[in-house]
Amino acid sequence: METKFLEEIDSNSEEVSIKRLNNANRDANEQFFTPVSVGLYMSSMFKPIIKSTIYFLDPGAGVGNLTASFIASIYNWAKKPKVIIAVLYEIDDSLLPELRRSMDYCVDFCKNMDVELRVVIKNEDFIKISAEALKENKEITKYDYIILNPPYKKLGVSSLYKKLTLDINIDVSNYYAAFVALSLKLLKKKSQLISITPRSFCNGLHFKAFRKIILESAKIEKLHKFKFRNDIFNDVLQETLIMFLTNNKQKASDKVEIIESNNDDFSNLVKARKEFSDVVFPNDNENIIRIIKEEDTKIVDTMHKMPCRIEELGINVSTGPVVDFREKLGLLSYEGDLLSIPIIYPENFGEGFIIWPIVGRKPGHLKEDSSNFNRLRPSGFYVLVKRFSSPEEKRRVVASVYDPFKVRSQYVAFDNKLNYFHVEKSGLGGLNIAKGLSLYLNSSLVDHYFRTFSGSTQVNVSDLKGLKYPTVDNMEILGESYGDILPSQKQIDITVRDLVLQ
Ligand SMILES: C[S@@+](CC[C@H](N)C(=O)[O-])C[C@H]1O[C@@H](n2cnc3c(N)ncnc32)[C@H](O)[C@@H]1O
Repeated sequence: METKFLEEIDSNSEEVSIKRLNNANRDANEQFFTPVSVGLYMSSMFKPIIKSTIYFLDPGAGVGNLTASFIASIYNWAKKPKVIIAVLYEIDDSLLPELRRSMDYCVDFCKNMDVELRVVIKNEDFIKISAEALKENKEITKYDYIILNPPYKKLGVSSLYKKLTLDINIDVSNYYAAFVALSLKLLKKKSQLISITPRSFCNGLHFKAFRKIILESAKIEKLHKFKFRNDIFNDVLQETLIMFLTNNKQKASDKVEIIESNNDDFSNLVKARKEFSDVVFPNDNENIIRIIKEEDTKIVDTMHKMPCRIEELGINVSTGPVVDFREKLGLLSYEGDLLSIPIIYPENFGEGFIIWPIVGRKPGHLKEDSSNFNRLRPSGFYVLVKRFSSPEEKRRVVASVYDPFKVRSQYVAFDNKLNYFHVEKSGLGGLNIAKGLSLYLNSSLVDHYFRTFSGSTQVNVSDLKGLKYPTVDNMEILGESYGDILPSQKQIDITVRDLVLQ
């Protein structure tokens, strides 16, 4: 009975996906439907709540795959509820016929289990309706179970959604974070929430406030990281996270189940139980959510034993302040003139040093002008780190030295696709410090540590600020082993190990 029901749901969803391949609403509303197999796996995490009536929410329901998976999972509960009130929000009315069809299958399936399923489909905007209701303190339905695969788009800073969510102290930069944060406010006591979203919220400044909301309002029970082929993102494999939360207070000694799999067939699961304080470090102001494999524990310990925080070195790191396409017309050029200064992009990264000028894709000269002067930096030794590493690069953290003796100019412009290490917006103390810092950043230790908390190829300033560093003296010694080109990876790792990891 269960198999037939799931086949019906699956074929309903597949039919819609094929029919809507070129549908404008599909892309606008990010209609990627969760495969029923993934939905079933997610729903199997829910713990039965013994109640005669349970309230269930599926915000951004699509054609109802997650609701159907939840209903199917109840089949295995020893004690089933008498009534399920299922509320489904779906903004796109063109999906409603298939959503209703899928819910009819669910009602029939429940009847066979002697459960009454009351389905309430709301063809409404979940963010708007719930944010307004929460703001006005309206009598609002709360739920025992919430399951969601929300849309992933960015929230515009001046959008209505941004305003509505800020009004109720939800400061998020993305639809999925808004959906999860709002859902958390709709949980009853002792209730449960399971989401499937990109892993990107686990680190980075953009999601800091969102992480705070999660940690203040819920207890993390399980985190499952895997690569998911998501056709919304042109078939790229994207690091995805299933998160199981309960409406409880989190304690440092609580255990969190960490699960990893290579893909979404979930046949090879690697599981570990970690203390919460090993997932979110107690003294971490960024509240980064770390998914640390057993074999990486040593790397994390080693990094934490490094002696200095970046501020203790008197060094800072920032994103390059120049956005090339925002510069006034005519200031950028390929040839340059007497008033031009170098503008440095990721394409200027050579073997350990910045190479300029080059025959590159981008115009390498920027004319100094009153409109850009405060974004230029004085000549000096800087360490630059790419903000986005390319898929061919072995390392996520790719650093290079800007040496003013190799690029002669009084000022320099760092493009926004770079992060740059500096001392009060000027260069670092000397060549050896810059080389030492670059060598350290290019080490496997830093790269592996980085991968314990970031699933993307993006390197944020806050990620670099969160690292620990060698002392200035050791940085100078590291720098001495770095000649005219960056040593091999093996050599870098041996040097770092021998000097700073004894
Ligand atoms: C990524 S799809 C997931 C669908 C479904 N939850 C699933 O897992 O198969 C997100 C769904 O949210 C809907 N949606 C987008 N914005 C919405 C909003 N503001 N309110 C309600 N639904 C929304 C889309 O139309 C789409 O069907």
